[in-house]
Amino acid sequence: MKVSLLDLKAQYETIKDDVRASMEEVLDAQNFILGGQVGRLEKAIADYSGTAAGVGCASGTDALYLALRALEVGPGDEVVTVPYTFFATAGAIWNVGAKPVFVDIQPDTYNLDPDRLESAITARTKAIIPVHLFGQCADMGPITDLAKRRGIAIVEDAAQAIGAEQQGRRAGSLGDIGCFSFFPSKNLGCFGDGGMAVCNDPALAERMRILRVHGSQPKYFHSLVGVNSRLDTLQAAVLLAKLPHLDRWSAGRAAHAAFYDGAFADVTEIGRPVAREGNLHVYNQYTIRVPDRDGLVKQLSAKGIGHALYYPLPLHLQKCFASLGHREGDFPESERAARETVSLPIYPELPEDARAYVAEAVRSCFA
Ligand SMILES: Cc1ncc(COP(=O)(O)O)c(C=O)c1O
Repeated sequence: MKVSLLDLKAQYETIKDDVRASMEEVLDAQNFILGGQVGRLEKAIADYSGTAAGVGCASGTDALYLALRALEVGPGDEVVTVPYTFFATAGAIWNVGAKPVFVDIQPDTYNLDPDRLESAITARTKAIIPVHLFGQCADMGPITDLAKRRGIAIVEDAAQAIGAEQQGRRAGSLGDIGCFSFFPSKNLGCFGDGGMAVCNDPALAERMRILRVHGSQPKYFHSLVGVNSRLDTLQAAVLLAKLPHLDRWSAGRAAHAAFYDGAFADVTEIGRPVAREGNLHVYNQYTIRVPDRDGLVKQLSAKGIGHALYYPLPLHLQKCFASLGHREGDFPESERAARETVSLPIYPELPEDARAYVAEAVRSCFA
């Protein structure tokens, strides 16, 4: 048997007619840039995430960039985030001219450890970017308390967590601006790159709308230097057709996670994902921690099972950030997670026999 990490074709088969009809409307109208579907999707995603406004843009990376720009984060400012995340989180901070300041993660959730946050805050700290990694919200209570006390903005990196909840509130609505990615492998993915920032403050939303069209308002008159970062109307059309299925897909992922949890429960060497009480985890990834990751990866490859290492080198050790002056040992939990974790297939359409095959293959490594 072969099991891929992700099977986008399986999902497409179930929604083909709706997606094609939705795209057909754009083809008929030829309204490719900021057509009506973009505004409709912005409203739908804002409603879905429990926020007032959405601003569609070209990627999750750009959503982070636009969010920081809208908050007027720039040279001389510091932005606190985690080193154990996809590169874009820190890349966006760097690209607005600010300095990424890292805080280590919790070993069980892989999210920002609020207990270590305060010591990273300085007079220059302008924003905090908690990352809701693998589909679970970071512990936002203590993070928002501290941010409020110190007058610091929060930008949620919810690229992997659309639909995730904390105490009944959805990811994206827990900070000042929430950022989603519609990269095809995300829980809600389009047919290329796409992203959106959501928020409750109309002034921030307006600023992001202006920044995504070169900073022009009105057209050809520029009060800001922005970028070209719009969500294509075609991508919005795809997402409008997919959004009604999102909760069902997330429930499918959670069911697979529960199955794996059960299958691995008696194997002490396997560290299973930990969902905190009060959190609804949407399992963009099902990531386990094992002492001998290389051994497990070899077995998975031999058995034709797709897997991924998210992420093999924490950001404080990336060459491009050498000037930040970090060294190995600075963020031990991030470094350990980078050495010990592996993500398994969890896409909603994963057939029952495939997940059983994956579970057995993993278990057999520890027999
Ligand atoms: C945590 C995180 N942040 C940011 C991004 C950037 O999103 P995009 O690939 O849409 O630019 C991603 C996804 O790739 C991500 O996983």
